Amino acid sequence: MNRSVPYTFPCGIHAAIIMDGNGRWALRRGLPRLAGHRAGAEALRRTVEAAVDQGIGTLTVYAFSSDNWNRPKEEVGALMQLLRTWLRSEMRRCVDNGVRVTFIGRRDRLPRLLLPAIEECESRTAPGARLHLRLAVDYSARDQLLEAARRPGATANRAALSHALGSPDVDLLIRTGGEQRLSDFLLWECAYAELYFTPRLWPDFSAEDLSQALAEFYARERRFGGLPAVVSSRG
Ligand code: FPP
Repeated sequence: MNRSVPYTFPCGIHAAIIMDGNGRWALRRGLPRLAGHRAGAEALRRTVEAAVDQGIGTLTVYAFSSDNWNRPKEEVGALMQLLRTWLRSEMRRCVDNGVRVTFIGRRDRLPRLLLPAIEECESRTAPGARLHLRLAVDYSARDQLLEAARRPGATANRAALSHALGSPDVDLLIRTGGEQRLSDFLLWECAYAELYFTPRLWPDFSAEDLSQALAEFYARERRFGGLPAVVSSRG
């Protein structure tokens, strides 16, 4: 764990990250895109450690969107292989650091060899209580919403749909890489998320960057459609 972070935030918020910019990071160095994804996997390892240190309760990261199937076959294959390697190398560390790992998204289209790795990781890390790390793989928020709404006996109200999605509301949504959009990520859960966009390319994202995003989050006033605290207390 990185002990250089000067302060720890008090409560376990749900932060979500769209990890963008791997390709550009590699391009700027004259490297193949896969080198950017490898550096991105390393950035994820560092960020998980920083999230534990900085008191985040749940961290959901966008590792592979359902639209990413449209990328060249070689890149998709390399990403799936990287995910499998990452699980193998990080599972022990997650167990030791109290990080519970689960997956969201479809599983029926994933490579056959990835499924046992996912299941083993979920069951071995299940006791982890310091951080819940959720990896979104073959994930589409729209598809998840449709799937939940179409379930037999589904009830059409907010609480029931939230329950069916099995995902807490997002407090802070971070997107790296300079783009400012949600890209079909946690659309329902982000209804009142604070949005934080940074030009930092994902492989360069550091504990300090996370700390800065959290500092900005805690400095914002969340009103959820109400009035600023000072106005409402005056009546
Ligand atoms: C976006 O960068 C990133 C992805 C599509 C995949 C995210 C994958 C990782 C962070 C690494 C692997 C993850 C795990 C869990 C092992 P991009 O390729 O769209 O970058 P660009 O916008 O610069 O082209």
